Amino acid sequence: MPAEPATPPPPGSTSTPDAAVLDQPTAVTVQAPSTPAPLHPACRPGVTAHASDPHAWTSQELTDPHSHTEKAGKVRRMFAAIAGSYDLNNRVHSLGLDQRWRRFAVAEAAVRAGDRVLDVACGTGDLTQAFATTEAAEIVGLDFTREMIELARKKQLALPEGVAGRLRYIEGDAQHLPFEDRSFDVISIAFGIRNVEDPTRALREFARVLRPGGRLVILEFDQPKNPLVRWFNSLYCRGIMPRTATWLSGDKSGAYKYLPASVATFLAREALLDALKDEGFSHGKASPLSLGICVCYRAVRV
Ligand SMILES: C[S@@+](CC[C@H](N)C(=O)[O-])C[C@H]1O[C@@H](n2cnc3c(N)ncnc32)[C@H](O)[C@@H]1O
Repeated sequence: MPAEPATPPPPGSTSTPDAAVLDQPTAVTVQAPSTPAPLHPACRPGVTAHASDPHAWTSQELTDPHSHTEKAGKVRRMFAAIAGSYDLNNRVHSLGLDQRWRRFAVAEAAVRAGDRVLDVACGTGDLTQAFATTEAAEIVGLDFTREMIELARKKQLALPEGVAGRLRYIEGDAQHLPFEDRSFDVISIAFGIRNVEDPTRALREFARVLRPGGRLVILEFDQPKNPLVRWFNSLYCRGIMPRTATWLSGDKSGAYKYLPASVATFLAREALLDALKDEGFSHGKASPLSLGICVCYRAVRV
């Protein structure tokens, strides 16, 4: 899924990156000597975690990572740990499809000349940079993991001046955006909404910061509806990708086990569309990409 997005196309759909499908959406706890503190979950019997990272996701936590009381801190540490190999893992494990998905999202945003674009949970800036192909006047990338933002800024240095000059990266939280009401024409978030502690709160912030008529575009992984595709996708995402992505990144945080677990337990397509409506968006649309392993949502601020 861009590993994060390292959910790739399942066997049978992968040998050729699926442009046709893509382009034609079907719509050590310190213990006091007398009162022992509770053991870190990683230390509890029967719970597996990487011994060298006390914060690594445990198998028990991964049954529902979204309800973890320290989800935000764990997510941030996890992305800090995998930042250096994030882009490589995305390309390898999505067979390059991740960049096509981002291009699709940019097209869905229908950016007009002079628009202001905010790319939330921008990570290393791949989607933020993709918006530079439009006539947007300004493109702001925001993320709460410093290590990811630093890589985005490094990539910005390699861009032509005319492109780099329209990009700006800031550290910030999707749930408390440091912007005035109605200050952006487009907001995007790719493979990020699932990672936010309270997605509904983030949607509310997006509605506040978008001007009426502004577009929200969300890319997120999904579980394919076709049972056979779903079976292959699950085999890949749970059996193969976590091993190869962990090997490539040298990760000890459990990021690539968190990935499929967080997708499987996140809001279903219809529930996300309902949440968009509840938070002040209309014309909600979900476009399945690459046999439904990824979905591009688009909605308009009322
Ligand atoms: C899977 S990465 C996606 C990065 C990028 N959008 C892409 O397409 O590759 C998820 C990102 O969400 C960020 N994130 C998670 N929760 C966040 C929050 N509450 N506020 C800002 N960023 C957040 C993480 O730091 C991470 O960089």
